[in-house]
Amino acid sequence: MCGIVGYTGPKEAYPIVITGLKRLEYRGYDSTGVALLNDGLKVYKKKGRVADLEEAIIGKDLHAHTGIGHTRWATHGEPSDTNAHPHTSASGKLAMIHNGIIENYAQLKKELTKKGYVFTSETDTEVLLNFIEDIKENNQCDLEEAVRVALKRVTGAYVILLLDAEHPDTIIAARKGSPLVIGVGKGEHFLGSDASPMLEYTKEVVYVNDYELAIVRPNELILKNLGNEKITPFVTKLDMELAEIEKGGYDHFMLKEIFEQPSTIHDCLRGRLDATAGTITMSGIESNMEHFKNANRIIMVACGTSWHAALLAEYIIEELCRIPVEVEYASEFRYRNPIINKGDIIVAISQSGETADTLVAIERAKEHGAIIFGIVNVVGSSIARISNGGAYTHAGPEIGVASTKAFTGQLAVLTMMALKIAKEKGTISEERYSNLLFELEAVPEKVSAILKNAEALKTIALKYQGASDALFLGRGYNFPIALEGALKLKEISYIHAEGYPAAEMKHGPIALVDDKLPVVFIATKDSYHEKIVSNIQEIKARKGKVIAIITEGDDIIPGMADDVFFVPVADEIIAPMLSTIPMQLLSYYTGIAKGVDVDKPRNLAKSVTVE
Ligand code: G6P
Repeated sequence: MCGIVGYTGPKEAYPIVITGLKRLEYRGYDSTGVALLNDGLKVYKKKGRVADLEEAIIGKDLHAHTGIGHTRWATHGEPSDTNAHPHTSASGKLAMIHNGIIENYAQLKKELTKKGYVFTSETDTEVLLNFIEDIKENNQCDLEEAVRVALKRVTGAYVILLLDAEHPDTIIAARKGSPLVIGVGKGEHFLGSDASPMLEYTKEVVYVNDYELAIVRPNELILKNLGNEKITPFVTKLDMELAEIEKGGYDHFMLKEIFEQPSTIHDCLRGRLDATAGTITMSGIESNMEHFKNANRIIMVACGTSWHAALLAEYIIEELCRIPVEVEYASEFRYRNPIINKGDIIVAISQSGETADTLVAIERAKEHGAIIFGIVNVVGSSIARISNGGAYTHAGPEIGVASTKAFTGQLAVLTMMALKIAKEKGTISEERYSNLLFELEAVPEKVSAILKNAEALKTIALKYQGASDALFLGRGYNFPIALEGALKLKEISYIHAEGYPAAEMKHGPIALVDDKLPVVFIATKDSYHEKIVSNIQEIKARKGKVIAIITEGDDIIPGMADDVFFVPVADEIIAPMLSTIPMQLLSYYTGIAKGVDVDKPRNLAKSVTVE
C-alpha cells in the first residue's frame, strides 16, 4: 500500500509527480504529499486525497526539476497532515517517502531519542529517515552510504525515495518487499510503485529487486546491492498504453472494468484456447506438466478476491484432475508451520503480484523446496518474478479497488489450467473436455449478454439499498461466488454482508432472516439446483426477501423469489464466471445509490503491500 512517485530531468517535476499520484491513488488515499528540490527543499503535504493537496497548494512555488510524491495508506499513525509523507530530517536537509513498515522502528526510535532526536510524527518513516541522517553525520559519509548502512539494520518492508538538499538532481531509492519501477527516458528518469506514472513518457523500465539501491540522476541510473556492488540494470519494454489506465467515458473505473470483461476474458483465452482444434496452449503449464501430473497435492495461496478464485479452483481441479487441493489464506499459511511435501505444488494467485502476505507465503514454501506456480495479472510483478512458472491473466490494469475483471481472468486461467492437466492425466473424457472448451470459448459473448441487462440490477440495487445486512448463498461451484458477492457488497456499499454455503445457512445465519433481510441466491441450473430450491423455500418461509441469480429458462425459481436476474445457460463449471457479473453490478449500483466513492472505498487499498 501507499503509492510513490519520483522524477528527475529537464521537465517540471510537480505536474509529473501529481499526475502519477492520481494514478497510484488506488494504493492508498489517506494523505498526500510532495517534496520538490530547487533552492532547497519544499515539502507540501495534507490529509486527504491528491485533489485536496492540489487545491491547497495553488499559487505556491512548485518550480523544480527533481521531486518525489506519496499517497498514503496509514499504518503507523492516523491519517493527518503531520503523519503525511514526505518527512523531513532533523536538519531539514533530507526528505523521504516510504511504502511499507519498519518493524524495528521502536528500537531505532529509542536509540535516536537518547541522542536527543525529537519526532514530530508518529510514523516509522520519520524514525528511519533520522536514523539515516544520524549515520550520515556520524560516519561523515554521503547519503548513499548512509542509506546502505541503515538498511542493513532495518527489519520489515520498504520502498524509500530520498532527496538531499545538497544534491538537487539526485533521488536515492531502495527496495525490499514493496514494488519499485524506474522509467528510463532521454536525459530523465521516473520512479513509481508501478509503471502508470511514466506511461506517456517512456516504455523502457527497470524493475528494482529486493535489497537493491538506486542512485537516480537525469542522465544516470546506478543500481547497487547493499554490499555496494554495481548491478547492471535490466531494461524491459512495457506493454501498456495510457488509454488502459483512463476511465474511457465511464463514471468509474469499477464500471469500466466490469464492462471490459467480454474483451479481457477474450484476451485471456486468445492464443491459448482453440476449441475446434481441441487444444489449450499454456507454456507455463507445459513446462511444469510433469510436476502437475505427478503432484500429490496442490496448495493454493491467495488473499481477498483472489482467495475466492482459489476456492473455486479447488472444486474444479479436484473434479477434473483428481488432484487434492488445499486453499490457504496467505496470511495464515506464512505463519503456520505448514506441511509441504515433495511433489506438492504451490499455486499463488494475485492480481497485483505484490500482496505482501502472498509474496512471503511463497518465499516460505520455496524454502521448503516447493514448486511455485504464479497466476498474476500485473506483468513483471514480484510474484510473477519469483515463481518457477506461471500464467498471466491478461486483464490489463485494474484500477478500481474492488477486483472485477482480474477475478474473471483468474477463473478463466484456472479453468484452462484444470482442463489441460486433466487431459494430460486422462481424468476427463474426450467429450466433456471438448464441450468445456467450447463452453469456455463462449464465455465472452455470454458476459456481453449479461451486461446488456445491467439496468435490471440497478433497479434491484435501488430497491434494497437501505438494508443494513445481506446474505449471499450458493452451493457447489457457486459457493465461492456467494463469498465473492458478499465481499463486493461490503467493500463497495458498506452494507454488512455474509456469504455462506446455502445449506450451512441453517446452522446460524438463518437466525438473521426477517422480512427485511435481502438474501441473494446464486442458483443457476446445476447438479445442486433442486437442493437450492429447498433452501430458497426455507428463507421464504421466514419472510426473507429473495433475490435469485438463475439460468435462462428456469421456470421454478421465478415463482418463489422476490427478484430474479437471468444468466445464459452454461455448464456448471463455467457458470460461476457468468453468475459473478451480476454480483459485481449489484454492489456497484448499491454503492452508487449510497453515495460511496466506489473506486476508493474507505480504509481499503488495491495493493496490500503490508502484512
Ligand atoms: C486487496 C484488494 C482486493 C484483492 C486483495 C488481494 O484487498 O482490495 O481486491 O483481492 O487485496 O490482492 P491481490 O493483488 O493479491 O489479488
